[in-house]
Amino acid sequence: MEYLTVALAKGRLAKDTIKRLRAAGMGSAVNINSRKLVFRDEKDGIEYLLVKPVDVVTYIEKGVADIGVVGKDIILEQNIDVYELLDLQLGICAFAVAGFPGTDLYGPEKVLKIATKFPNITKKYFAGKREIETIYLNGSVELAPLMSMSDCIVDLVETGNTLEENGLVILEKMFDIQAKIIGNRASYCFCYDKIQKFIKAIESEVNNDATDYSWE
Ligand code: PRP
Repeated sequence: MEYLTVALAKGRLAKDTIKRLRAAGMGSAVNINSRKLVFRDEKDGIEYLLVKPVDVVTYIEKGVADIGVVGKDIILEQNIDVYELLDLQLGICAFAVAGFPGTDLYGPEKVLKIATKFPNITKKYFAGKREIETIYLNGSVELAPLMSMSDCIVDLVETGNTLEENGLVILEKMFDIQAKIIGNRASYCFCYDKIQKFIKAIESEVNNDATDYSWE
């Protein structure tokens, strides 16, 4: 059978993504609590891959997956060439510059040191505004200002708990993001009908759903 291959992001987004799929009558074969990585739904002709969020775009760009679910943060940071097909209205959170209360982002220091998992987004945001140096970290970014490794951070904020528990505050909100369905450009032509069927089912569920989805 020729399956429609869908890459799903593991981690924070996974549970709500599955909830959305199930509400739209799909995804019953997927078990995010198992160690299995490929799940096939024979009835709908869909194959689901469970991959790290940063890798979803690679599977789609390489044409291994036809479509996938990923946060807009990854799309922006990787500056990828894919179709953005649908906003999922989940994984909603904000990009923000954060640090100790009273930190002056536009003060006289020569270069503002910013720790982040998102150096490209950070550089683009501050371009023309402020000279900065980014320090790439893969996680627990909030630790950098605590240990005086950076002046501030650029990171995602959802509940604000991580900032609060580490004595940090939002210094400047940048923009909101959410999870999206993205698609490979060639697949969008060759599997148009299957992709449209999938998108329409999810879209009508998104439009009918009043649930306030969070990341977890
Ligand atoms: C994300 C993000 C913040 C935190 C924000 O990290 O980078 O650290 O969640 O969420 P909150 O506002 O609800 O506290 P994640 O949990 O993905 O882990 P990481 O620090 O290892 O990247």
